[in-house]
Amino acid sequence: MEGVRDKLAQAAEKLHIGGGQEAAAEPSPDAAKIYVDESAGSDDSGDGSKAKPYKTSLAAMLAKGQNISLFIKKAGELDEKDKASADEDGYVPISATGQKRVKKLHEAAVKKQKKLEEAAAKEKDKANAESKKLEESKGVTLGEDSKDARKIKIHQGAEHRDKRVKIFGWVHRLRQQKDMHFIVLRDGTGFLQCILQGQVAQTYDALTLTLESSVELRGTLKKVPEGKEAPGGHELVVDWWECLGKAPGGDEAISNLIAEDMEPSLLADRRHLAIRGQTASAVLKVRSGVLKAFRSTFDKLGLTEVTPPCMVQTSVEGGSTLFSFDYYGQQAYLTQSSQLYLETVLPSLGDCFCVQESFRAEKSHTRRHLSEYTHIEGELAFINFEELLEHIEELICGTIERLLADTEMKMLVEQLNPGFQPPTRPFKRMDYKAAIQWLNDHGITNEDGEPHKIGDDIAEAAERKMTDALNVPIFLCGFPREIKAFYMKRIKGNEEFTESVDVLMPGVGEIVGGSMRMSDAKELLEAYKTEGIPSDPYYWYTDQRKYGTCEHGGYGMGLERFLAWLTNRWTVRECSLYPRWTGRATP
Ligand code: 4AD
Repeated sequence: MEGVRDKLAQAAEKLHIGGGQEAAAEPSPDAAKIYVDESAGSDDSGDGSKAKPYKTSLAAMLAKGQNISLFIKKAGELDEKDKASADEDGYVPISATGQKRVKKLHEAAVKKQKKLEEAAAKEKDKANAESKKLEESKGVTLGEDSKDARKIKIHQGAEHRDKRVKIFGWVHRLRQQKDMHFIVLRDGTGFLQCILQGQVAQTYDALTLTLESSVELRGTLKKVPEGKEAPGGHELVVDWWECLGKAPGGDEAISNLIAEDMEPSLLADRRHLAIRGQTASAVLKVRSGVLKAFRSTFDKLGLTEVTPPCMVQTSVEGGSTLFSFDYYGQQAYLTQSSQLYLETVLPSLGDCFCVQESFRAEKSHTRRHLSEYTHIEGELAFINFEELLEHIEELICGTIERLLADTEMKMLVEQLNPGFQPPTRPFKRMDYKAAIQWLNDHGITNEDGEPHKIGDDIAEAAERKMTDALNVPIFLCGFPREIKAFYMKRIKGNEEFTESVDVLMPGVGEIVGGSMRMSDAKELLEAYKTEGIPSDPYYWYTDQRKYGTCEHGGYGMGLERFLAWLTNRWTVRECSLYPRWTGRATP
């Protein structure tokens, strides 16, 4: 109310309502004399006396009513006319026009005030009715449910249409109308629209239900009427239910903790809640489907799964990205890659693969680097480089075919990456030297802003620009020895280059790194020396060459990078359950 008065008072001031040139309005004989001092008065503490004048005429009228004789002391200089009618303290009776204007403003203010009071009263009535309803709801109980109900998960809904079922889950969305509540229930297998009406919508829990509360709902699954849409094409008409765990509302409500436009580090702190969201859970679902499809492709290709250790005492991809720790008084590391172990498995189980966490102490904050990532690695014996490439092509394309053959996965991929087209075979083959030429031809410089030269590592930005421009999967082959790991086989007759490959995908860049491996023990021992690596800790790796060596090769794929490409995510962080990057290991 004060705000309205202030605004109106300011408006009155703008209109310069006060004593004036015009003749003073005739006050009624019994009207009280009220004083307004435009500069020294106060609308808050004034009472209209000369000792305590108001600041504005409107405030005077709001306090004293319209039947008053107003005397104004103007803020500026008095003109001759005002001087003539001013009393000894400088107060001039209000002009007739002035009086009229104040009256008008006063009437408008009173009207507005009345409206506000009515609205407040309505609100109060509503709140009273609600609290009465809430109080009464405590007496509404549904009692025991003794009728038959089959316990199902949401994804089994179609087989149970028109049957009575019980379903457990979390309140994903909630719309409460007068006597009807609509819940979108989530149970991890899908989403289901549920309707509560009649008595089931009148219990205390129904009236105070919040998002993310866990519930048990029982009722009949009904096909939604023609023209209406609902997940699965049906909805649950609830006839009995129970709230199992009520989630907080108010400040602590999930909608106040998780929002798309929130600061990324806050969202990362609240990842445990964020993964309940439709997009985050869809990515995790696809992740699970992709892993299943990879395993199925590996199975089809005859590779055996093994589980190498994560705690190791050797490096694979250079010392700079090793996480080290104290292992019973000795230094040990978190593995960067299981490749060396897979190589030793070849003479035991033949072609093999693993799905294992790899760790990289990368100080890079790029959108494709994690400190811990899921590494899908394969190793194949008695192959050549071209066979390795064909195998990788088959692994990627076969896995995508298998994934998309699953209707749920196809739907989720479409949801996350509308219009996704599986890659076609054969992938574009590009030699490292041709890539350097391509970058220079297209004016893409290296990190120092200079043209690329043979021997340069192609930095992430340049690699991404090229991949995005070509917009197809690329096998980038034949990297220089100097920029690659010690174990890579050299190209015969061109020993400064290696039989190596990176698979580059549009939008992400490198998702796979692979190579043929040195098969000769002596050559390998030389390579340790060149790299400055002590050979002793690698005795078991060297032995693989000593006890029946073979031409072999393999690769590693970052699962999160594969997913970022497949589901069109901005960063690999969205593709990991609880991503770790520089400085973050929570939650
Ligand atoms: O190219 P990289 O370093 O190759 C190896 O580790 C080989 N020893 C693998 C092998 O031949 N068995 O890494 C392989 C892949 C990369 O192409 C990338 O997809 C992923 O692992 N990767 C990362 N993903 C997320 N964050 C990081 N910091 C990554 N570093 C590598």
